Amino acid sequence: MNIRQLLTDKVQAAMLEAHIPAKFGPHLAPAKKAGFGDYQANGAMAAAKHMGTNPRELATSIVEKLNLEGIATKVEIAGPGFINIHLDPAFLGTSLDKALADPRLSIGNTTNPQTVVVDYSAPNLAKEMHVGHLRSTIIGDALVRLLEFQGHKVIRQNHMGDWGTQFGMLLAHLQDKLEANEVAEVALSDLEAFYREAKLRFDDEEGFADRARDYVVKLQGGDPRCSALWEKFIEVSVSHSEEIYDKLNVTLKHSDVAPESMYNADLPVLVADLQQQGLAVEDDGAQVVFLPEMADKEGNPSVVIVQKRGGGYLYATTDLAAIRYRVSKLDSDRIMYFIDARQSLHMQQVFTVARKAGYASDDTSLEHHPFGTMMGADGKPFKTRTGGTVKLAELLDEAVERADKLVAEKNPELAPETRAEIARKVGIGAVKYADLSKTRTNDYIFSWDSMLSFEGNTAPYLQYAYTRVRSIFRKAGINPEQLSGSIVVAAPQEQQLALKLCQFEEMLEQVSKDAFPHVLCTYLYDLASAYMSFYEACPVLKEGVSEEDKASRLRLCQLVAATIEHGLGLLGIEVMEQM
Ligand code: ARG
Repeated sequence: MNIRQLLTDKVQAAMLEAHIPAKFGPHLAPAKKAGFGDYQANGAMAAAKHMGTNPRELATSIVEKLNLEGIATKVEIAGPGFINIHLDPAFLGTSLDKALADPRLSIGNTTNPQTVVVDYSAPNLAKEMHVGHLRSTIIGDALVRLLEFQGHKVIRQNHMGDWGTQFGMLLAHLQDKLEANEVAEVALSDLEAFYREAKLRFDDEEGFADRARDYVVKLQGGDPRCSALWEKFIEVSVSHSEEIYDKLNVTLKHSDVAPESMYNADLPVLVADLQQQGLAVEDDGAQVVFLPEMADKEGNPSVVIVQKRGGGYLYATTDLAAIRYRVSKLDSDRIMYFIDARQSLHMQQVFTVARKAGYASDDTSLEHHPFGTMMGADGKPFKTRTGGTVKLAELLDEAVERADKLVAEKNPELAPETRAEIARKVGIGAVKYADLSKTRTNDYIFSWDSMLSFEGNTAPYLQYAYTRVRSIFRKAGINPEQLSGSIVVAAPQEQQLALKLCQFEEMLEQVSKDAFPHVLCTYLYDLASAYMSFYEACPVLKEGVSEEDKASRLRLCQLVAATIEHGLGLLGIEVMEQM
C-alpha cells in the first residue's frame, strides 16, 4: 500500500473543498523529525503565497475539511502552516496484515503502465567484458526488475558494440594466422589473447593498421568470407557475455541483444533523411549536424558528425537509428540509458538531434542515467595490480572465493555444497550491492573488505539479517506460512518498524522514477536496523510474552523477512535460510 499516495489524495480533496485551485498540490512527505507525526503536508504554504492569504489560516481550513478517519489519530498544524499527520497504529496494523497475506506485499500494479525500453550492459564485443560494463549491467538490471514488477512493459536492449574498426583488426590478424596454417578455432578459444595480439600489431606494426581498415571496408561491403568470420567472433564473444550474466544473476537473455550492426542498413537512410530535413550539412567532406541550442560559452554550436569523410558512420549515427527504431517499432513511452557519465555529452547530442528530426516526440521520455567510475583503493580507475583492465569473470570468481572463506569461518559445520551455494550468493550479492548502494552518479572505491563485511550497509549484512529473522521460526518450530492472529502496533519500536514496512511501495515508486537504486538499498538497511531495535525491545519467543503479542510479533518478523527478500530480489540479489 502507498500511504503517501493515500494521504495525498485525501489532502488534495480537502484542499479542493477549501476552494484551493487544483494546481496546488498537497506536497506530502514523511515527517523529518520525531514528534512531528509520521507525514507532513507542506502544500498550504505555497498555495497561500500564490493566493495572497495567511498560510496558517489556509492550513486550518484544509484540516477542517480533511477526513482521515481510520487512518490518522491526530492532525496538527505546526510552524508557518505544516500539516502534521499522526497515523493510527490500528491502521498500520491492518495494512501490514493485508501485505502479509499478499505475495506482492500489497504493492499494486502501476496505474500508468508504460512501454519502457532499457538500454544497458552493452559491452563491446571481441574484447572481453571488463569492469566498466559491470555498473551498467547491474544498475540497469535492478531497474528492469523493478519496472516489470510494477507492471510496465519492459523491453531490454543490449546495444552491444559489434561493429567497427576493432573487427578489421581481428580479421587482418586472423588472415595472417590462417596463412600460417593455424586454425580459426585457436583464435576463438582465447579471443581475449587474440584481441590483445591484434591490438599490439595495430599500434606498432607498419602497414597493419591500413590492412585492418581495408578489412573494415570489406566487411561493411558485405564480403561473404569476412562476414562469416565476423559472425564467428560475435558468437563467441556474445556467449562469453552470457556466461557473465549468468554468474551475475542478471536477467539479460540472448533475445535482448540488439547490437549496433542491427542498424547498419538504416544508417544511409537516416543520414539522407537528416540531410533532407536540412539538419545534416556537409562540412569538410563529412555530414554534420550543428546544434546551436547546445553551444559552448563562446557561442560555437555543438557539432555532431553523422557520417565521416569517406563514408563511415559513427556511434552517434547508430544511436539515432536506435532511437528511431525504439520509438517507431517498439512503441516506447520511455527510453532509459544506463551509460557511463563520460558519455553524457554524446547522449545529450543524440537526444537533441532525435527531437529536432522528429524521431522522438515529447510523448517519449529520453533519459540518460549516468554513473560514475569504479575506482581502485588508490583512487584511480580500477585496474589489476599490473595496470591491466580487470576481467569481470575473474573478479566475480574472486568474490565467490572470498565469500567462501568468510562463510566457512562463520559456520564451519556447513556441508560443502550448501556452503558453495551460500558463498555464491554472498559473493555475487556483495559485488552487486556495493555498487547499487552507492549514489549512482558518484565514483566509488571498490573494496573487498567493506563489501564483504557483515556490518554496515552491505549485502552480507542484509542476507544475515534475513537468516536471523527466519531462524526465529525454526527455533520456535512454527511454519511462517501459517501464522495466526493479527498485527498489533503498540511499542514505539513496533510503530517505527510498522511505518517503515508500510513505506516499501512509495519508496519503490521513487526508485523507478529517478532510477537511483541506492534509495532501495538505504531503505532495506534502515528496515533491518528498525527490526534490530524492535527485536531488542519487544521479545517474541521469551517466556511471559502473551499469545497475542507473540502472534503479532511473529507476523511482523515474517513481513520483515519477506520485504528484505523481495527488496533484495529486485536488486537481483538472493537470500538464503542460513549462513
Ligand atoms: N558499447 C558502448 C560502450 O562500451 C556502450 C553503449 C551504450 N548504449 C548506447 N545506446 N550508446 O561504451
